[in-house]
Amino acid sequence: MKKRLLTGLQASGQLHIGNYFGALKPFVDTYEEYDSFLMVADYHALTSIKDAKTLSGNILEAVRVYLAIGVDPERATLFKQSDVPEHMELGWIFNCLVSVPFLQQAHAYKDKVAKGLEANAGLFTYPMLMAADILLYDAEVVPVGEDQRQHIEYAREAGGKFNRAFETEEFRAPQELILKGVGTVPGVNGEKMSKSYGNTIPLFATKDAIAKAVMSIVTDSSGDTPKNVYAIHSLYRNEDELTKLYEENKGNYKALKESLVEDIEAHIAPMREKYQNISDEEILSVLKNGAEKARTVASKKMETVRKKVGVALY
Ligand code: ADP
Ligand code: TRP
Repeated sequence: MKKRLLTGLQASGQLHIGNYFGALKPFVDTYEEYDSFLMVADYHALTSIKDAKTLSGNILEAVRVYLAIGVDPERATLFKQSDVPEHMELGWIFNCLVSVPFLQQAHAYKDKVAKGLEANAGLFTYPMLMAADILLYDAEVVPVGEDQRQHIEYAREAGGKFNRAFETEEFRAPQELILKGVGTVPGVNGEKMSKSYGNTIPLFATKDAIAKAVMSIVTDSSGDTPKNVYAIHSLYRNEDELTKLYEENKGNYKALKESLVEDIEAHIAPMREKYQNISDEEILSVLKNGAEKARTVASKKMETVRKKVGVALY
């Protein structure tokens, strides 16, 4: 029996190759080792998005990205949170078990308040909905980025509180899985590649756009090896190949950049093609199938939970 994994997907627009090598690829390389549940966190997104078109579009986009980078919907349960109302139901129960000061310690909430932004009640109780996402499926393993570590602690705490309050062992403690990517991918200016720095090579870029980004990589005139070009190139080729290539084209930055464009293109092209050719209908069908599978697990779990709480009378 494989261990169960669950993670929440969000559409985070403008993905770049830093995201791919840092987070997406390590995930794609790992999910099949587990009984994986991949959930689009659409009701979580509602804490910040108040536009129906944008939210619908983001749901489709999140699924499209994961399918394009190689997630096989036959080998994972891909669904959206809002299709399984049990998430909200269990989230409510957890809300009734944790204290306000406990939720006030959550980073996402604190950051928003610190920035002087108004936090809605949904954002405030976000960690309990996330705890429900995880515990409803008895997920043991939760792959997340470092910034989500605290939320997994909150999930453990919520499950523990339930177990103590109702004298049960209903919920098991989930463990975060912080996947190791290749480290920091540098952008075209040598700084960390980030959508907020405008120094990215977009993940599903056309060849022209790749070429444009690569040609703009900053090269210094000291030495024969353009180190920013080399750093990105090393994501695609091993050291021996690169040593040879950079030796043969010493000082010829243009040729080296052209070679990098070809390597990136060869890697991106199949993903880009998938990304462009996945129809909305296909995505909807994946989500519908996933919802059915997820609901089967979640509704069974909630039946027991309702009994433990004392609301199941018939
Ligand atoms: P951005 O910096 O473009 O806003 P995010 O903060 O949305 O990217 O990051 C999403 C995920 O991609 C995170 O898990 C992060 O670790 C990874 N990531 C982002 N930029 C890089 C990078 N330059 N190198 C490696 N991983 C990255
Ligand atoms: N909060 C997560 C994020 O911002 C998304 C998420 C929602 C999630 N529910 C989850 C992640 C359950 C893991 C498990 O990235």
